[in-house]
Amino acid sequence: MKVLFIGDIYGKPGIEMVSEYLTDLKKEYRPNLIVANAENASYGRGISLKIYKELMSMGIHMITMGNWVWGNKELFDFIDESNIVRPFNYREAPGKGYLKINYNGATLMVINALGRTFMNANMEDPFTGIDKILEKEKADYVLVDMHAEATSEKVAIGLYLDGRVDAVVGTHTHVPTADSRKLPNGTLYITDVGMTGPLNGVIGVTKEIVINRFLNGFSTPNEVAPGARQLNAVIMDFANKTIKHIHIESETV
Ligand SMILES: [Fe+2]
Repeated sequence: MKVLFIGDIYGKPGIEMVSEYLTDLKKEYRPNLIVANAENASYGRGISLKIYKELMSMGIHMITMGNWVWGNKELFDFIDESNIVRPFNYREAPGKGYLKINYNGATLMVINALGRTFMNANMEDPFTGIDKILEKEKADYVLVDMHAEATSEKVAIGLYLDGRVDAVVGTHTHVPTADSRKLPNGTLYITDVGMTGPLNGVIGVTKEIVINRFLNGFSTPNEVAPGARQLNAVIMDFANKTIKHIHIESETV
């Protein structure tokens, strides 16, 4: 099974990049299933029903989320009927923390987990939480989207799950890491896929807003950065145990 995973879709520039490049990516890499993290798709905060439908109509099969999952309240109304996976380690929340999808007789289970280090210490432990899911659920292939701030937490969970799941992909920092590889026991891994959205903002946000926040301690609310855009993704082949990072930049706006 070949799975394309698209990194954090951020605002309109991110949606446009998927719309413009997904057909070419499908032709070149022939993925059987496409998964995307879209927790920042709605102006950087959550996902709306309109955007969800738009992404699904482009050929994305499953969407993962993260700390901004509840950023757009619309999601409460449609998450239960959607192919959206929210972090499983909320103690109580609508929706599901893992979902299964079939392709050609094989099942892929996608698990979304939220890190705790420098993030949300109130979440349940993602390490033992995934153990419990793997104990009770069966699937031919398992992909974990580990949405976390600390590289150490992501590397640790990758090695913790090595040999027990097919892939662990990191999201959230919006900056891709150069460590995509097969771990010693065969799990495909990357610490962070990187974002799909503005290229010259500060992790998606207009640069002046964030620079001012560092200079002055405060600034205006976040806005999606204009200008050039990027797409980051990984293509994984579970049979051949290969993972390759994909980075596209588009100067046109
Ligand atoms: Fe995030």
